Amino acid sequence: MRELKILAVVVFFTLLTYWGVEPFAHSQMHAHVDSKNFTYADMPAVKAGNVANGKELVMSNCTACHSINAENMPAPMDAVTSAATYGVNPPDLSNYGSMLDSKYLAAFIADPAKASNVAHKFTAESGKSHPMPAYNWMQPSEIADMVAYMQSIAKKDLTPKEVYIDACGRCHANRYDNKVMGEKWTQIGQKPRFKYEKDSLAFDIQVLEYEDSIKKYMGTLPPDLAMILRAKGTHFLETIIEDPQSQLHGTAMPAVGLTKEAAHKVIQHLENTGDPSKPVRESMGVWFLLYMAVFTVFAVLWKKSVWKKLH
Ligand code: HEC
Ligand code: HEC
Repeated sequence: MRELKILAVVVFFTLLTYWGVEPFAHSQMHAHVDSKNFTYADMPAVKAGNVANGKELVMSNCTACHSINAENMPAPMDAVTSAATYGVNPPDLSNYGSMLDSKYLAAFIADPAKASNVAHKFTAESGKSHPMPAYNWMQPSEIADMVAYMQSIAKKDLTPKEVYIDACGRCHANRYDNKVMGEKWTQIGQKPRFKYEKDSLAFDIQVLEYEDSIKKYMGTLPPDLAMILRAKGTHFLETIIEDPQSQLHGTAMPAVGLTKEAAHKVIQHLENTGDPSKPVRESMGVWFLLYMAVFTVFAVLWKKSVWKKLH
């Protein structure tokens, strides 16, 4: 009886901590942020556009800064020079048509600072303006044409890494993105494993120069994302990708407007690189349970045989 009472007390306090105290402390220190399910519901819908006209508009307005590999349009400058000019390397535009929500893409072209929720960095008093010009002087139908064109050239089945590179890779390094030791993702591209130390150092210097520019632009160096998924979990990543301000109020990190599918690909990539043994670990689970089952059978048989002699 006494043991039961002690057990009841222990259970009571454990449950109280689990359902009462911990969630309360958590809600005080990390307020829960709800995902809006990547709907971008506050942005106006985009009408179907004319692809041919959109192509003309993109070619004449956007390729001074952006490459479009799908059309063999090269970048006007290398990543380091681009960052020195604009603060960050403008991403390749080939696949944005499938990665981004169409409403977001149209809103971003019309007003990049507003759509990506960083207008507070570019106020009149700050004297700074977003490095990409706003195209709100164009007709909404012309912007819809550019969106239609970008959708027409975009690959539909992007790999997790392809989405990461376009959506995050210009700002965030990922030091565990490697197939062989010595490789990693940097903001200027994949660092290969160099045969000679001096080539490796020359590459690192380029990265440092790039990082200097981006620090000036963003006010802080975007952190390496190698361990972020393990540190903060999926929900944090989903919500910060959808709206960085929701998790880091006043942050310089822009919203990138990904669709839900594309956001999950980014998270998948971070899992593939930051926690590569997860699939192995998970597949081990079945074998472990099987082992326990077989072990239990043997244990029961053994117990029976031992007790038989004693009866
Ligand atoms: C003067 C240079 C410049 C021009 C011209 C320009 N852009 Fe950009 N664009 C940038 C820069 C710089 C960035 C990255 C900004 C950042 O990450 O803060 C960017 C980012 C983007 C993104 C990524 C948006 C996101 O949130 O994921 C898209 C899409 C884009 N531009 C489309 C266009 C289109 C379409 C045009 C032509 C109508 C265009 N840009 C013209 C400089 C330019
Ligand atoms: C234009 C540059 C830029 C892009 C693009 C960008 N980020 Fe960021 N990110 C930043 C900056 C700058 C910070 C630091 C913010 C701060 O400290 O206020 C940051 C912070 C973060 C953090 C918070 C890290 C922490 O320690 O809490 C996460 C997570 C993150 N970014 C994920 C992403 C993901 C995922 C993507 C792609 C979907 C992405 N970012 C795209 C600039 C960027």
